[in-house]
Amino acid sequence: MELKKQSIAIAGGGSTFTPGIIMMLLENLEIFPIRQIKFYDNDPERQKQIADACEIILKERAPEITFVATTDPEIAFTDVDFVMAHIRVGKYAMREKDEKIPLKYGVIGQETCGPGGIAYGMRSIGGVLELVDYMEQYSPNAWMLNYSNPAAIVAEATRKLRPNSKIINICDMPVGIEHRMAEILGMKSRKELSIRYYGLNHFGWWTDIRDKDGNDLMPAIQKHVKEHGYLTPAELEGKGSEEVEASWVHTFGKAKEVYPLDPKTLPNTYLKYYLFPQDEVEKANPEYTRANEVMDHREKMVFGECNRISQLGTAVNSELEMDDHASYIVDLARAIAYNTKERMLLIVPNNGAIANFDPTAMVEIPCIVGSNGPEPLVQGEIPRFQKGLMEQQVAVEKLVVEAWEEGSYQKLWQALTVSRIVPNARVAKNILDDFIAVNTEFWPTLN
Ligand code: NAD
Ligand code: G6P
Ligand code: MN
Repeated sequence: MELKKQSIAIAGGGSTFTPGIIMMLLENLEIFPIRQIKFYDNDPERQKQIADACEIILKERAPEITFVATTDPEIAFTDVDFVMAHIRVGKYAMREKDEKIPLKYGVIGQETCGPGGIAYGMRSIGGVLELVDYMEQYSPNAWMLNYSNPAAIVAEATRKLRPNSKIINICDMPVGIEHRMAEILGMKSRKELSIRYYGLNHFGWWTDIRDKDGNDLMPAIQKHVKEHGYLTPAELEGKGSEEVEASWVHTFGKAKEVYPLDPKTLPNTYLKYYLFPQDEVEKANPEYTRANEVMDHREKMVFGECNRISQLGTAVNSELEMDDHASYIVDLARAIAYNTKERMLLIVPNNGAIANFDPTAMVEIPCIVGSNGPEPLVQGEIPRFQKGLMEQQVAVEKLVVEAWEEGSYQKLWQALTVSRIVPNARVAKNILDDFIAVNTEFWPTLN
């Protein structure tokens, strides 16, 4: 049967991840054919640099695909099947503030965890809801696949404020870690793993990992993680990929300290920020955070290469690489477009899947995905340790969304205070007041 060709809008066309996603889509055209790609961004200059290069790449490799880059929502969102969304409201300039302001008070500043994630959440909610509304206005049958961060807070906002919208929130961190697990086991692909997992976004645990024959792989992975975290055998021999920056190498290694807290499971790497926040503060440079690293490396590389392609007028010898692990986005889109019933980890309303946890929480759990969307799989009861941590964190996420909706200073102060990463209510208030001062352009007014 011939597969129906898809029309895709990429929101956040100017993202550093856009070229890698385009290369990945091109690689998958046989299983996910595309007739049209539209880039949408609210920063025309930034988007143009990426779009000009991508237009050349598409002309050279798939000339049958119609391409347009626009800042006009009507053009971008009309006649699309999927909106793939990865916007960063406030861009890296604001990410830098999210990271550096908490550090002034001895608190870790991170893109999605703790105060940094809260500040970013307050910016992202409005941006993502706007995309949902454009999509529903111009392509009411389309689905939005959102990976704009902080995904946990964005997901809660869409659940609460757009309960009937066709939006699925997804994260690539578990996929990235599973890729490492497969490498640790000497397996060819993460797709050979069948997993059980539960938690919140950037806050979860694997409870079961098996191969296709049902053999339990947890003991072998746990043995490795206990000693080396998620560092791969190649990395341990000093032969890791140069693309994995030092800060990520540290994160993968640090999992060995997170793992023993519950040796029956395997942890998401992001838990280090919640369980060892002070270690992160001690190793942070308050003058040079991850935002600076990303601006100096990924942003320079991607924009430099895109500009080079545009000047040459060809991408034949381009160094731009496919973002292979972004292929989970194609798996998800295919599942919906062609009813493949793929099993995937998604961020969905709990609704009883974790039996002893808030049914209204947005949780990250395996789902079967078909044309009618995700069908979550029951994970049963979870232990008190994880439940306690998750209750606290979900309260943070819900308070942020309520604060955004109500314009409530009080609730945002409470959110910061409940976060494990913030030591006390006074520090929470100081950080909040500094955040308000720099976010006037992006946050609702708080009373
Ligand atoms: P980036 O700053 O390079 O790109 C974001 C783009 O969004 C920019 O071009 C910006 O102009 C645009 N933008 C900002 N606000 C907008 C709005 N309201 N409407 C339309 N466009 C808007 O950022 P990046 O580092 O490439 O990351 C992009 C996003 O993807 C971030 O949210 C990041 O956290 C997220 N991300 C998520 C995952 C995941 O696991 N869920 C993985 C990787 C990246
Ligand atoms: C992981 C996370 C994402 C995060 C990304 C990029 O993939 O799952 O949510 O945005 O890392 O982080 P970086 O610091 O490289 O921008
Ligand atoms: Mn993520």
